Amino acid sequence: MKECLISHFSQHVGESVMVKGWVANRRSSGKVSFLIIRDGSGICQAIVERETFGGEYEEIRKLPIESSVIVTGKVVEESRSPGGFELHVEGIQILQKSDEFPIGKKEHGPDFLLNNRHLWLRSPRQIAIMRVRDALVRYVREFFHRNNFTLIDTPIFTTTVGEDSTNLFFVDYFDLGKTYLSQTGQLYLEAAIFGLGRVYCLGPTFRAERSKTRRHLTEFWMVEGEMPFIEHKDNLELQENFVSYIVQNTIKEKADELGRLERDIEPLKKVEPPFYRVTYDEALEILRREGSDIQWGSDLGGDDETIITNLFDKPVFIENYPKKVKAFYMKQHPEKPECVLCADLLAPEGYGEIIGGSQREDNPEILLKSILDQNLDPERYGWYLDLRKYGSVPHSGFGLGIERTLSWICGLKHVRETIPFPRMLYRAYP
Ligand code: 4AD
Ligand code: MG
Repeated sequence: MKECLISHFSQHVGESVMVKGWVANRRSSGKVSFLIIRDGSGICQAIVERETFGGEYEEIRKLPIESSVIVTGKVVEESRSPGGFELHVEGIQILQKSDEFPIGKKEHGPDFLLNNRHLWLRSPRQIAIMRVRDALVRYVREFFHRNNFTLIDTPIFTTTVGEDSTNLFFVDYFDLGKTYLSQTGQLYLEAAIFGLGRVYCLGPTFRAERSKTRRHLTEFWMVEGEMPFIEHKDNLELQENFVSYIVQNTIKEKADELGRLERDIEPLKKVEPPFYRVTYDEALEILRREGSDIQWGSDLGGDDETIITNLFDKPVFIENYPKKVKAFYMKQHPEKPECVLCADLLAPEGYGEIIGGSQREDNPEILLKSILDQNLDPERYGWYLDLRKYGSVPHSGFGLGIERTLSWICGLKHVRETIPFPRMLYRAYP
């Protein structure tokens, strides 16, 4: 008999098909039993009648949730059924009768669910989030492909600190001593622009941050773009086009999943260029007006970002931060040397930073001074400084965190549900 995915039922109405999957739920009476079957492509209601199964019926009707089964039956259109079809079961083979599934209908605490993440991933909400993630990453890649970027896979072991030297994960590397897990692919992308023009990378990124917030993971996925001959202003324009593209396409394709997550997508529909732009100095004024006593020179914290983004109905760029709170590679502001040509993009509805980006310092003397000022070892930056010697050009780029962006699109409270197996300060299991 023909094996058929539940998501393809519409092409097989009236036919008998075979479905391989799991019992996601069930209810029954003495005569008829309704099994909800999940096959990875979708769910359907399978109807089992006592009359057809005789003595076997009692076993089927009591099948534990999550038992694996191969079901054969006829596909029938039924608008009241989940998915719009149901299966009139003709035969059922039980592959494994599941032990009692620990995740039930009752409320579970986050720790319990995270300890059972390997099982939690089967629940409808988690399935919906993973499907949105799949679409988001696909549109990220599509945007770059359509805009003449070439994919460059950057290394994960590195000896050059890319961001903040206080949050490195160290790895013993044979006779070479310590290497770090990469915090960014950016420096390597900068090397690649000279041969390939616009480039991007998308991969896991590691930060040993001792932060226990709803926005921090120790392992997260970042997509980074780097462009030669692009200066600060054009960098922001590309970013707003990029974010609009990925958000609009994702919410259109995954409207059903976002509905299941009870995400109101009206605010997301407004995500179209131009985004708001405020300078760091203006951001401080806003924060002080809202009652903060933040001083010039401090970085904006998560709470500051929440205050700001709640005042705007679209993403907002915060430009020109003080040099001392940002990474060494950012280009010094031509009129305000204490600031850099950078911008963080904050997502609305309180979500906060999803992108960090900047024009890169192309003056070799200033760059070397910044490396020294930040107590980084210049010997490890030989290759990076070379890039300012052989055909240096103005260039800019940015990095977007996949999990924070997904958390915003899905309307989640915490990034931990946006990645299949979250790694956090107190969690590396399962
Ligand atoms: O602002 P960040 O540190 O920027 C960079 O790494 C640059 N090298 C990017 C570039 O210009 N090519 O990180 C970029 C983004 C943040 O805006 C945030 O979305 C995400 O990465 N991010 C995290 N996401 C989850 N957990 C963490 N601990 C994160 N740290 C940064
Ligand atoms: Mg940042």
